[in-house]
Amino acid sequence: MRKKLIAANWKMYKTPDQAREFFRDFLPLVHGHDRDEIVVCPTYLAIDAAIHAVQGSNIAIGAQDLYWEKDGAFTGEVNEKDGAFTGEVNAAMLLAVGVTHVIIGHSERRQYFGETDDTVNLKLKSAVEAGLIPIVCVGEVLEEREAGLTDDVLRRQCLRAFHKVSAKKAVSLVVAYEPVWAIGTGKTATPQMAADAHAIIRAQAAESFGQEFAGKLRILYGGSVKPENARALMSEEEIDGALVGGASLDPKSFAAIVKY
Ligand code: PGA
Repeated sequence: MRKKLIAANWKMYKTPDQAREFFRDFLPLVHGHDRDEIVVCPTYLAIDAAIHAVQGSNIAIGAQDLYWEKDGAFTGEVNEKDGAFTGEVNAAMLLAVGVTHVIIGHSERRQYFGETDDTVNLKLKSAVEAGLIPIVCVGEVLEEREAGLTDDVLRRQCLRAFHKVSAKKAVSLVVAYEPVWAIGTGKTATPQMAADAHAIIRAQAAESFGQEFAGKLRILYGGSVKPENARALMSEEEIDGALVGGASLDPKSFAAIVKY
């Protein structure tokens, strides 16, 4: 049995005060809920507020991204280039403030910030090396689906993301299937479409990491998940949770999804 994971991706929303306010309302709504794992991913700036707000609760805090390079100051071995990456934050820094999960390769990062399958691979390697739980996002755009390329795209994205990552290191890996045409559009993949895509991802994971690993791998669905469609999606055997954007910003709506 794979325990379902329901993750909130807050994207570029919520100040630290707004994050605190969210948790004030959200915590009582999911108090004692242990059927599913709950993760919330705020912006870097609201992470500290979120971590303090959820202390002692059943909620984990994740980041929306990370950079793969090191800051030698952590290890006391500062090299010339270590840490000279303006604007970036690495895995060790996330761990140091209590972050446990990290989203990698979200389609908005691929689309607007030049992320490629190769940078996703570097980020995945640095996350698993550090002991963060990676949530690697894959998914096809509409033209690819219409051209019958969904299978190829998902296999390529997974194959390249997993390149030279050891199954042993990647034990905690989570993959999120997010068809790009369903993100923020109100269009959801049907539970069957999502389940089919998840089966492709699981098959690729079996090739990359072995059958046993693939059987335990959690694959989330993301793309216009709402309280109204969460139950149908979560009833699919292949769907091991959800990555929720818009509907995770409101405590009542996110709690309703968690309790689908
Ligand atoms: P959405 O976003 O739920 O607003 O469609 C999902 C995501 O981008 O992770």
